[in-house]
Amino acid sequence: MSVKNQVTPYADAEVSKKGQVTRMFDKIAPYYDNLNRVLSLGIDVLWRKKAINLLKKENPKTILDIATGTADLAIEAARTIKPDHIIGMDISVNMLKIGEEKINKKGLSDVIKLEAGDSENLQYDSDSFDAVMAAFGVRNFENLEKGLAEMFRVLKPGGTMMVLEFSKPRHFPLKQGFNIYFKYILPVIGKVRSKDEKAYKYLYESVQVFPDYDDFTSILKKLGFTQTNYKVLSAGICCIYLAKK
Ligand SMILES: C[S@@+](CC[C@H](N)C(=O)[O-])C[C@H]1O[C@@H](n2cnc3c(N)ncnc32)[C@H](O)[C@@H]1O
Repeated sequence: MSVKNQVTPYADAEVSKKGQVTRMFDKIAPYYDNLNRVLSLGIDVLWRKKAINLLKKENPKTILDIATGTADLAIEAARTIKPDHIIGMDISVNMLKIGEEKINKKGLSDVIKLEAGDSENLQYDSDSFDAVMAAFGVRNFENLEKGLAEMFRVLKPGGTMMVLEFSKPRHFPLKQGFNIYFKYILPVIGKVRSKDEKAYKYLYESVQVFPDYDDFTSILKKLGFTQTNYKVLSAGICCIYLAKK
């Protein structure tokens, strides 16, 4: 099964999903962190903490944070895991600018370096990192398998991949309740506060078509990852996926 996610932020057939996603994050970058806190009631911070605590057990010294955005995951990893260095990469220059300011302010610029790039064509050598991670990033890839295969390639043999991503809650009543919030309420708040018509509608739609739970680990296995497993967070709103190369 080739997973090519066709849900795009804008109805612009001339521009690829990658182009539209880049435009969207460049546009909403100034509002992104604040909206994360508001829309998740601050729980997104706890999800990243949980994910980094699981990765900490592997004691990685070199970490690549794919689709780092404003660098929240990289900052959490620097504080908790204390690795030698972290590279955070992203396709949106405006998201990186905000990340850079936060890293400087927190005095973490010796540990975390941010670089612009495309996660489907990574500029790093094969077998380079002890850990490769992504929070809320892989769902946005134009070609999911290509991006995950790149994560596999740059990971050292024995290294760990960690992905934190939205999933669809499966059980009543959270499934129904969360769906109403996620589909109808969140896009309205997102639209008003991000000044982008579509970004938070795209969030809902992209989660609906994204392969979650065992569907996601099946793709990882197909690409060569081993010891795949996942931890369900907040009754299925999110999952932390872990795998080894
Ligand atoms: C929802 S944000 C997540 C940011 C951050 N990881 C966090 O936890 O808040 C998704 C990020 O993925 C980035 N992204 C999407 N497609 C990408 C690609 N092909 N290569 C690199 N970054 C990409 C976007 O620019 C955006 O910053």
